[in-house]
Amino acid sequence: MNAKIAVFSGDGIGPEVVKEGTEVLSLVASLHGFGVEFEEGLVGGASIDASGKPLTDPVLKLAKQSDAVLLGAMGGPKWDGLDYSIRPERALLALRSELGLFANLRPVRLFSALASASTLKRKVVEGTDLLVVRELIGGIYFGQPKGVTRLPDGTERGVNTEVYTTPEIERIARVAFEAARKRRGYVTSVDKANVLEVTELWRRVVTRVHREGGYADIRLDHMLVDNCAMQLLRDPKQFDVIVTTNMFGDILSDEAAMLTGSIGMLPSASIGGKVGMYEPVHGSAPDITGRDMANPLATILTIALMLRHSLDRSEAADRIERAVEAVLDEGYRTTDIQESGRRVVGCREMGSLVREKIQSLH
Ligand SMILES: NC(=O)c1ccc[n+]([C@@H]2O[C@H](COP(=O)([O-])OP(=O)(O)OC[C@H]3O[C@@H](n4cnc5c(N)ncnc54)[C@H](O)[C@@H]3O)[C@@H](O)[C@H]2O)c1
Repeated sequence: MNAKIAVFSGDGIGPEVVKEGTEVLSLVASLHGFGVEFEEGLVGGASIDASGKPLTDPVLKLAKQSDAVLLGAMGGPKWDGLDYSIRPERALLALRSELGLFANLRPVRLFSALASASTLKRKVVEGTDLLVVRELIGGIYFGQPKGVTRLPDGTERGVNTEVYTTPEIERIARVAFEAARKRRGYVTSVDKANVLEVTELWRRVVTRVHREGGYADIRLDHMLVDNCAMQLLRDPKQFDVIVTTNMFGDILSDEAAMLTGSIGMLPSASIGGKVGMYEPVHGSAPDITGRDMANPLATILTIALMLRHSLDRSEAADRIERAVEAVLDEGYRTTDIQESGRRVVGCREMGSLVREKIQSLH
């Protein structure tokens, strides 16, 4: 039976990079003897333009009935003036919570051919290979009370609330320990337990899951978020799996992203429910939209995560990652990872170079 993939390209460079991703997926499916079918849906700004809403019920239904969702990017200046409740990015939050995607996995691996594309010294970043496991549907982005109210004296008061319950922490901790076991690595749990009671609970529950959940063979460290932000730049190789809250994960994973040189290289997977959702970490990049300048490698590497986590095809995932590495080793670069002496190619050409390499690899 064919794997059914819901494809939501979204806005800006979304459609450009997603096209390269779906072509890679079709190719590995034919090479590895399985079928895929794609069904497209409008999300974000494209959906607002068509229906006035960032996510419609039929598109949500399509996502729920698929084996996996591939997402491009949402948003852009055209929709920036809209109210928060109907901004393109609301579709992303709604999809995550409707699909029960409580864990966001962001691998940060520096391809050694790109060590000098990082703003940090080669000796600091070379060999970086870590995974940020971010809690995705709890914490301060969802906690109540929230909102801005006007006070009797005419001033305004803004509130967001960081909330975590024991089951929410237990399940994300398990995802992190399982990932560490697969990688034969270890876990650093990141919190602000010295100041925030909610993350004191986080630390206690992660420690209990480690001790009582059958993970005592895996090393567990705790680190305060401010120190972690610093350590990621000082010595990123000290980390293997980092597990943290929604907001800390949002910030730390973008910081970790820069270790690799470009946000255009970073894939992500959101899992936890029946259907996983896969998307490049970057946004819609309005500054380069329509100019064949986007780096499609984040989306192509996202397809590898989909194959591994939703389609149970890890050999096809490995093949994609090896092909990307080989193309970079041969010196091909998109503008965002450009270096002197390397050949700069556009989005389309980078996609076809990876596909050629996939075909020639065994
Ligand atoms: N998951 C998402 O859909 C998502 C994530 C982040 C931002 N956004 C939205 O995207 C819009 C633009 O946001 P932003 O500019 O802060 O972030 P962005 O990630 O779109 O762009 C940041 C910078 O990185 C570059 N860049 C991003 N992806 C690239 C790629 N694949 N190849 C080459 N260069 C790339 C851009 O050209 C830009 O200079 C906003 O509307 C924002 O809300 C959406």
